[in-house]
Amino acid sequence: MSNDAVKTDSKSATQADPGANRSRTPTSQQFLDYMGSGWAENPAASVTPSPATEFTSDRRDMVAAAFAGQVVVIEAGPAATRSNDTEYRYRPHSAFAHLTGWGATTVPDSVLVIDARDAETISTLFLRETAGKDSSEFFANSAIGEFWVGQRPSLAEISQLLAIETCSLNDYEAFLESIDKKFITLAHPALAEFVSELRLVKDKYEIGEMRKAVAASIKGFETVAANLAKAMKHPRGERIIETAFFSQARAEGHDLGYETIAAAGEHACTLHWIINNGPVRDGELLLLDAGVEMESLYTADVTRTLPINGKFSAVQREIYQAVLDAADAVFAMAKPGVKFSDMHATAMRVIAEKTHGWGFLPGSVEDSLNPENQHHRRWMVHGTGHHLGLDVHDCAQARREMSMEAELKPGMVFTIEPGLYFHRDDLLVPEEFRGIGVRIEDDVLVTETGVENLTGALPRKVEELEAWMAQHSA
Ligand code: GLY
Ligand code: MN
Ligand code: MN
Repeated sequence: MSNDAVKTDSKSATQADPGANRSRTPTSQQFLDYMGSGWAENPAASVTPSPATEFTSDRRDMVAAAFAGQVVVIEAGPAATRSNDTEYRYRPHSAFAHLTGWGATTVPDSVLVIDARDAETISTLFLRETAGKDSSEFFANSAIGEFWVGQRPSLAEISQLLAIETCSLNDYEAFLESIDKKFITLAHPALAEFVSELRLVKDKYEIGEMRKAVAASIKGFETVAANLAKAMKHPRGERIIETAFFSQARAEGHDLGYETIAAAGEHACTLHWIINNGPVRDGELLLLDAGVEMESLYTADVTRTLPINGKFSAVQREIYQAVLDAADAVFAMAKPGVKFSDMHATAMRVIAEKTHGWGFLPGSVEDSLNPENQHHRRWMVHGTGHHLGLDVHDCAQARREMSMEAELKPGMVFTIEPGLYFHRDDLLVPEEFRGIGVRIEDDVLVTETGVENLTGALPRKVEELEAWMAQHSA
């Protein structure tokens, strides 16, 4: 390596700005020279191509075919600021991950360019390559310097890992100039829609990753069961639950796929309860909605509603069974050709029948199912399911006719998640129902003939769930 004076090229100086104020190193030329010398070269890493590469090039070809004649730019995105000069853990855009196969180790600010101007598509991945140890960025930039944040891969390593041409991010501006800055990004609705719809049917690699995410999440639920007694002793027991799951998410995967909902007692009625600062009390239910995101960035999305002391009370069991019946009705009819809207209607009929059976509806079941009325929806305002994959609400930019109104196809992965929520202050239900919320959420894969419950190893039936809790509780 060169013993020349430390390079301070204008590019890395610009990129250095965000982190420049954290470095307290001397700035004398003598110090810069000293720091820039005496380092061994990074040993060349031997890289095994990612199994995703079997699929990613075809995905990029599909984008190229849909946007023929254009240059498509898919940005991984910058690191998001949490506050001042601190950042959230980095997570690239899902479309970028899908089209490159690069997951949690993506170098922030990377950009995928799919050049479809000519018959032959040229895909190039621009990334901030490893910096020379003779650059000031290396040790004096706390935001991106490898002395601070760890070694970045070389262009060759990423090219091998992802089977794609790589270029230095330093050359990206010049590339944009060379195409007169004529390109489309995800801000273009047609592109956002297309790459979202490209993920509706999962391939073999993706399904394998979903299975891993589910297995890791189930471990997380087991860890939670083992921590219930501890949670009951803590004034913010929900935090004990949340962090028990998180420990597995970090140990087994990359992160959580979304903020954990650890909702004990009446908090279960708050659909997105993520404050998680309440107590976990004997005799109440714990609604835990949590999923592990793997290094590949595929996530699970699982909910179980657990009796905190290990046994459902009569009324808890009654409500739980109603939700389970709604879910099972969907399981029984889900298969290729069925629409999401049909599945929702199936779940809603069960919910209407149950709430009618308890005497909560002002009229008949049919009356409530009338689109104008929907009285039963008071107790289940959310949807019955959604696509799942790289995003917890995957394919969210797909056209409605391609998602809710589309027919199920083998390879789709989605959730089945009916629930019932009786708020503490709901005067339309008897007192014994108030403050109870139940959701059961499974992740399923559409097969040729029906669906496979990917989360089926986590018990759902009342007796099985009680036995599972006895087995895993400390
Ligand atoms: N965890 C969010 C959802 O179930 O959709
Ligand atoms: Mn969900
Ligand atoms: Mn969920």
